[in-house]
Amino acid sequence: MFKILLWSLLLTFSGSQASRHLAQRNTEFAADLYQAICSSHENNIIFSPLGTVLALGMVQLGAKGKAQQQIRQTLKFQETSTGEEFSVLKSFFSAISEKKQEFTFNLANALYLQEGFTVKEQYLHGNKKFFQSAIKVVDFQDAKACAETISAWVESETDGKIKNMFSGKEFGPLTQLVLVNAIYFKGDWKQKFRKEDTQLMNFTKKDGAAVKVPMMKAILRTKYGYFSESSMNYQVLELPYKSDEFSLIIILPAEEVNIENMEKLITAHQILKWFSEMQEEEVEISLPRFKVEQKLDFKEALYSLNITEIFSGGCDLSGITDSSEVYVSQVMQQVFFEINEDGSEAATSTGVHIPAIMSLARNQFTANHPFLFIMKNNPTDSIVFMGRVTSPDTQNTKGRDLDSL
Ligand SMILES: *[C@@H]1O[C@H](CO)[C@@H](O)[C@H](O)[C@H]1NC(C)=O
Ligand SMILES: *[C@@H]1O[C@H](CO)[C@@H](O)[C@H](O)[C@H]1NC(C)=O
Repeated sequence: MFKILLWSLLLTFSGSQASRHLAQRNTEFAADLYQAICSSHENNIIFSPLGTVLALGMVQLGAKGKAQQQIRQTLKFQETSTGEEFSVLKSFFSAISEKKQEFTFNLANALYLQEGFTVKEQYLHGNKKFFQSAIKVVDFQDAKACAETISAWVESETDGKIKNMFSGKEFGPLTQLVLVNAIYFKGDWKQKFRKEDTQLMNFTKKDGAAVKVPMMKAILRTKYGYFSESSMNYQVLELPYKSDEFSLIIILPAEEVNIENMEKLITAHQILKWFSEMQEEEVEISLPRFKVEQKLDFKEALYSLNITEIFSGGCDLSGITDSSEVYVSQVMQQVFFEINEDGSEAATSTGVHIPAIMSLARNQFTANHPFLFIMKNNPTDSIVFMGRVTSPDTQNTKGRDLDSL
């Protein structure tokens, strides 16, 4: 069992050449994946590009030929297999934090294989070395018991935040190999919102209907940008978490701009431009509390990004096991992410609050209609989460989001 404090791993590579390349590739892949996912989803979205890279990296390690080639291409790895990207990951994982934990970042990454297949010793070693992921054998034929086993593991790896990831319906007689990736993050804002300033306000959903949501309010000095692209106006705001290691970036289109048109702008180039062009400004912020939890099967999205081979019989996963029958049935990821006034329950810092009467000409950032968000690690610019909120819900959204899959 491995519990990984990813933030500390990422920090180890701050500023190094290798991490910048990794961040650039991660951003390109994140943007591609976002485009592949958003088109098939109606409502809120959240996924972890970084987690997906880890899961695919694991398969790539044991894949050969076309199966390997496709993954390397989609992840923007160099043509030739240099092993460089693995050495970067290896160093990520070998860094264990001695710092006092300021964030909770639980990442569970595992490959589940049908009993009866033998996992190659070398593959077990490679995975431990590069990805610290678990390789486990289960009996998918006993779908219910198998679902309980995997769900229990995920629950324990995410401090109980991600429960019942599988029900058993996911597995069938043909299931042989499933990739599981679960992530939970919780951190405190650098500048908290005051609970007493939160008001119930209308949020206009994508379909035009208004819902009342708890809207957090603050006037803060923070990174901000006003942009205009393809005759669309939008604002970008950065809210750093305590100690500035992570930030939440919120991309808010002007009210008349359709969120789907806004999404078309999302490219790695654009994202990196936002990161670099935002400036410290005083901003009057209205942001709903929200909680997004989503389980995604990446199979369809990866298919549209040209990763097809690993999902079909006859693919070469001979680095994992000798059997030529094995292929990947599912790539499942579940993410739980929540924001509120503190950022987390155990907040200790307090924001600087500027009296509301001070300035009339300040920027207004009012997220009372659908917006996009990116949660990133600052030293490396790596995208940890990405998604959109079309309907903020502080209730448990799990059931609804699952229904919409
Ligand atoms: C909020 O939405 C409701 C329902 O659409 C509407 O009747 C009400 O006037 C709105 N309130 C404000 C302050 O805009
Ligand atoms: C997938 O492959 C096709 C054909 O080779 C290519 O045109 C397309 O750009 C690729 N898509 C991605 C996302 O790489």
